[in-house]
Amino acid sequence: MKLSQKLLLSEPHVCPWWLAYTFDNPFRRLIHNPEKIFSPYLKEGMTAMDIGCGMGFFSIGMARTVGDVGKVISVDIQQKMLDILQKRALKTGMGHRIQPHCATPNDIGLTHYSGRIDLALTFWMVHETPRIENFVAEIFSLVKPGGKYLLVEPKGHVSPALFQRITVAAVQAGFHILDHPRIALSHAVWFEKLQQCEIGGLPEM
Ligand SMILES: C[S@@+](CC[C@H](N)C(=O)[O-])C[C@H]1O[C@@H](n2cnc3c(N)ncnc32)[C@H](O)[C@@H]1O
Repeated sequence: MKLSQKLLLSEPHVCPWWLAYTFDNPFRRLIHNPEKIFSPYLKEGMTAMDIGCGMGFFSIGMARTVGDVGKVISVDIQQKMLDILQKRALKTGMGHRIQPHCATPNDIGLTHYSGRIDLALTFWMVHETPRIENFVAEIFSLVKPGGKYLLVEPKGHVSPALFQRITVAAVQAGFHILDHPRIALSHAVWFEKLQQCEIGGLPEM
């Protein structure tokens, strides 16, 4: 059986590449403007990770902001999504700023980036992962102290209770809630991985 067939039959349901065209199209910028969404925290020179990047709508937006000294690592479990992303990135002149990575459903697998990511994004994808708590803990390990994580889930597919479960998993992994931004059609939270001194304070004398 092909990987695409396995993904379609597996639970929870993974968005097939052809379905992504229904929301990843030229009109999307009217409701989801990447520069505006990331403007509080994403800066030039940063290393960002777009996990479950799909066809790269946000990866390309992030690449514009991080510039030539920054980098975007775009992660997906479907090679077809990454192939389309690479084509789009080349067309928009962002190819050299984007590094694609094909992961497995239970493992992002970029351990050499542990503690080095300035900003991680999961947009409309955590509900597709089989082990939510482990997945969010892996994201925590990748983000650097002081780094940010934006969790966005679709209101249509994800109930308030499921979104709460994902948020609690992120807090239990060690993230601190910063803000609940308003993003169309979505539940959303900005998290920060606190610096060690902000968590424990100074050691007792
Ligand atoms: C609904 S699409 C969203 C794509 C993109 N974030 C966007 O908003 O345009 C979800 C994507 O997450 C990917 N995905 C699902 N489970 C994943 C996992 N465990 N690790 C990485 N990517 C995953 C799917 O292959 C799909 O491309």
